[in-house]
Amino acid sequence: MHTIQVDLGAASYPITIGSGLLTDRALLEIHIPGRDVLVVTNTTVSKLYLAKLTGSFAQKRIAECILPDGEQHKTLQTAGWVFDALVAHKMNRDATVLALGGGVVGDIAGFAAATYQRGIGYVQLPTTLLAQVDSSVGGKTGVNHAGGKNLIGAFFQPRAVIADTDALATLPDRELKSGLAEVIKHGCVWDPMLFSWLEREMPKLLARDAEALAYAISRSCEIKATVVARDERENNLRAILNFGHTFGHAIEAATDYARYLHGEAVALGMLIAADLSHRIGLIDSPVKERLREILMLAGLPTEAPRIGAAKVQQLMQMDKKVMSGSIRLVLLEKLGRAIVTDRYPRAALEATLAEHFG
Ligand code: NAD
Ligand code: GLY
Repeated sequence: MHTIQVDLGAASYPITIGSGLLTDRALLEIHIPGRDVLVVTNTTVSKLYLAKLTGSFAQKRIAECILPDGEQHKTLQTAGWVFDALVAHKMNRDATVLALGGGVVGDIAGFAAATYQRGIGYVQLPTTLLAQVDSSVGGKTGVNHAGGKNLIGAFFQPRAVIADTDALATLPDRELKSGLAEVIKHGCVWDPMLFSWLEREMPKLLARDAEALAYAISRSCEIKATVVARDERENNLRAILNFGHTFGHAIEAATDYARYLHGEAVALGMLIAADLSHRIGLIDSPVKERLREILMLAGLPTEAPRIGAAKVQQLMQMDKKVMSGSIRLVLLEKLGRAIVTDRYPRAALEATLAEHFG
């Protein structure tokens, strides 16, 4: 078992990573001060892990809210169903929400916890690689809007993140690869050693070697905890964790959240951001090629869909990094260092979009 602290003063919390944690009652109960618990999960994860989890609590009053599975259900409507469950079970401010699932469940449940009775405690129990390396940490909660991804939400930190690595055994291969995209992102923007390690160890990760996965999760959480502790509300530094996301979110929205998994869209977005970084002279071509090769090695897509540059540019306008109408982008200065800037030639962005999206 490995614990990493997210240092945010009174809102600090531990991330615990290890095997068998979903049935570690002592660990879970530390973070559930009251009697009432609402487990929020989805139709897929509930079949696999809900009984295992709830079997751990003897003295609690446990209710369940089982949401439909899929990014297209990350909406105000499903968040509303979580509120309905909290109200139906007469839950008060001392209730705890347990978010059992991937990033979709975590984002919805966290948002409901952030806003129900102006905020109640919640614990992230991430069950996908993507959620264990990224989305369960850092307190970004929210839902999508027809006009764009994650447009409605709140920063609200969990009381704890408990990542049971055993859950990854049932994860489909495609989902595992999607999670690897966010690990690669951490290497790109922060840790060139992690990037090199990934280049060497990718076969082990794809074969679900427990030690390799544990390292990828721990190192990712350390990086995310460091960045979030320095800039919780994304005033500056935290935006680097959005590397690939401005283009990626546009790809997801343009394809109705159905064609690409989040990590797949981020993989494409990272390549496009690296291409723009290269076009404006920030990085050399070999860096761009290393990124393409590692994404291929991870079995992630490297050819963007021909959805049209104009459409992408329109969707990019709704990105949360836009300031006074100007699209700020996360670009690479070198492997392991990213910048957030709106100082790039517009013609270079347009040429990049035209090349990748048609
Ligand atoms: P997801 O939550 O849709 O989970 C992927 C699939 O795996 C789903 O079908 C789910 O039911 C299934 N699943 C979950 N755990 C499983 C398990 N152990 N075994 C078998 N199947 C399992 O997707 P995701 O990739 O986990 O998360 C993507 C979401 O996270 C996106 O909405 C993205 O915007 C969000 N996100 C949020 C943050 C943040 O900081 N809040 C960061 C990155 C991504
Ligand atoms: N996934 C980006 C962030 O949490 O800031």
